[in-house]
Amino acid sequence: MSDTAQLNLGEKTIELPIVTGSEGERAIDITKLRSQTGFITIDNGYMNTGSCTSDITFLNGEKGILRYRGYKIEDLAEHSNFIETSYLLVNGVLPTKRQLDFFNEKIVSFATLPKGITNMLDTFPRDAHPMGVLSSGIAALSAYYPDFLDHDLSDSEKDRAVAQLMAQVKVMMAYFYRRAKGEDPVRSHPSLGYCADFMNMIQYKPGYEVDHEVAKALNVLLILHADHEQNCSASTVRMVGSSNANIFATISAGVDALWGPLHGGANQAVIEMLETIKKNGGDYKKFIKKAKDKNDSFKLMGFGHRVYKNFDPRANIIKKACDTVLSKLGVQDPMLDIAKGLEEEARSDSYFVERNLYPNVDFYSGIIYRALGIPTNMFTAMFVLGRLPGWLAQWKEQVGSPTAKICRPRQIYTGPTVRDYVKVEERK
Ligand code: SDX
Repeated sequence: MSDTAQLNLGEKTIELPIVTGSEGERAIDITKLRSQTGFITIDNGYMNTGSCTSDITFLNGEKGILRYRGYKIEDLAEHSNFIETSYLLVNGVLPTKRQLDFFNEKIVSFATLPKGITNMLDTFPRDAHPMGVLSSGIAALSAYYPDFLDHDLSDSEKDRAVAQLMAQVKVMMAYFYRRAKGEDPVRSHPSLGYCADFMNMIQYKPGYEVDHEVAKALNVLLILHADHEQNCSASTVRMVGSSNANIFATISAGVDALWGPLHGGANQAVIEMLETIKKNGGDYKKFIKKAKDKNDSFKLMGFGHRVYKNFDPRANIIKKACDTVLSKLGVQDPMLDIAKGLEEEARSDSYFVERNLYPNVDFYSGIIYRALGIPTNMFTAMFVLGRLPGWLAQWKEQVGSPTAKICRPRQIYTGPTVRDYVKVEERK
């Protein structure tokens, strides 16, 4: 295939370069389109628009492929752990033992929050949504680390930012969760490992010991959530980071984008939907009907995906893990049966089949979080914990790019054409 595309615009024909990625994906590079033709392109929801090239994550929506830096998500979920996978996403290679230990030590060195931040967390209502607390708390870190406000960070400062945020977001979540329950905060015990330490910080009571299966399940869940190329929140991180905003403002913006129920907020919305179905006698057929009704804004939460048009490989892994984790923890959850029934009903319904709507990463994840004793309103915050290394990797790749530009899309104006100002006393 030619490495250029021809565009005929009336009497004018231009050639545009074709970019081919390492997995054979192709794009038409329109960098020179406006200067050569005066035209721009328009693409609602950026469904056909690439914002960048990236070495971090590869998705193939038709084949249900997801790889981080070339490693299959299935392999990482089975053999890796969240901190090792985070190192891979941010640095592009699996770490040696020494590199991994050093990364862990760096994260551990930030296992506390400035007093001003905990004072601020103490001012939130106990029932405040954790996503609002996280977004505010992360942005507020900028007040305590002014050296990060200079956008030209060195590589070692970028690495510090990665380790610091991975540590302090975890502490912030645990601190606020304990406060919401009216319990004292529990300090970090790094020897437990990142995921077990988090569970200990949120669930600790005398005699509590983190179950190995719980820590393993959380490692898998966070690995599966760690990155997903240019999704809404990662694109928001790139958009905000492109203005050279500091890393705290940049990540806080990612939290805000993820909060939406069409994105990361779906994991909470799925459980709320399943609870409503349970209250309605488990009649999920009624909800399938609502989801298909164009006059009803109800959507089957946890279903559908912009990229995956066959299956979300993460959903398959999480669904299998549900059975394993719940049986190992001796947990019975009626929500799992309702979810499976809903999936079966939807996947045999032409409306969903014709539109390639399948369970996504959010459909079953909440079932496991519940089994781990994590409350529903914390589910999207758990997504933040998982997605943080992905956002940080995307930010680091972008700010480190010699061709990075501020993201500033164009538009086609459709408002009123020029008109004269009329004094208020003359207006009818
Ligand atoms: C995440 O992008 C990522 O990578 C995101 C993510 C990540 O890891 O970062 O994977 C995480 O955000 C997963 C998605 C979580 N959101 C939900 O589960 C919310 C429910 N899903 C939908 O809102 C929707 O499927 C989206 C938002 C996920 C995708 O929306 P699109 O790509 O814009 O698709 P669309 O809304 O244009 O839908 C196409 C058709 C429409 O019907 P028609 O107009 O063709 O008749 O499918 C219908 C939609 O009405 N449809 C649904 C549906 N999802 C799509 N109908 C009912 N229920 C649904 N869930």
